[in-house]
Amino acid sequence: MERYATKLFDGRKLPDSKINELLELIRYSPSSFNIQPWVVKVITDQKIKERLTPVSMNQKQIESCSHLLVFCANKDIAGNIDKLEKLMKEAGASTEYIDIMRGFDKSLSDGQKLSWAQRQAYLALGNTLNGAKALGFDSCPMEGFDPKEYSKILNLPSNLVPTALCPIGYAADKQKGKLRFPREEVFI
Ligand SMILES: Cc1cc2nc3c(=O)[nH]c(=O)nc-3n(C[C@H](O)[C@H](O)[C@H](O)COP(=O)(O)O)c2cc1C
Repeated sequence: MERYATKLFDGRKLPDSKINELLELIRYSPSSFNIQPWVVKVITDQKIKERLTPVSMNQKQIESCSHLLVFCANKDIAGNIDKLEKLMKEAGASTEYIDIMRGFDKSLSDGQKLSWAQRQAYLALGNTLNGAKALGFDSCPMEGFDPKEYSKILNLPSNLVPTALCPIGYAADKQKGKLRFPREEVFI
């Protein structure tokens, strides 16, 4: 209940120890088949944040946050399966599902790959929001930005698609009242 979509941060930098804890929490997020089809670009450079603001609907979170996390869906699912297979073999884990994974990847169109990877990336985003609050700071999930412009400015390879933003830091605003549908409509 304490977590809310922060509209303005106070510009203070988060301590490295807290950032590292949050990044580990993101890295350990669950994903289907454990394929982890995401990459998170971590931005602290103020000049880059300033360049990103106009392509983020001029939202104030971008420049005022401590760290801007750009959740990118990774469409290169086959590449991740190869990496995962290597990791599993090194760890002595069973690779019995690898062929199923490869079949799954082959069954998807390019658009379906993106959609699937984005859904996994959103789970990691959800973890980030509650994780940040649990670690004592604030965040805002954001879709109000231009992914194509982000790709250009951040020079991202074509397999990485900016999907959602999560600026984090210390809030400089106050939570407004929560508006939610009643319990009986949500839990049926
Ligand atoms: C996927 C997603 C995208 C969102 N995009 C934005 C955004 O671009 N800017 C913003 O200020 N809030 C954004 N929000 C925040 C929502 O408006 C907010 O979560 C909702 O109104 C509920 O408020 P609360 O999170 O403060 O409880 C987004 C939320 C989600 C989950």
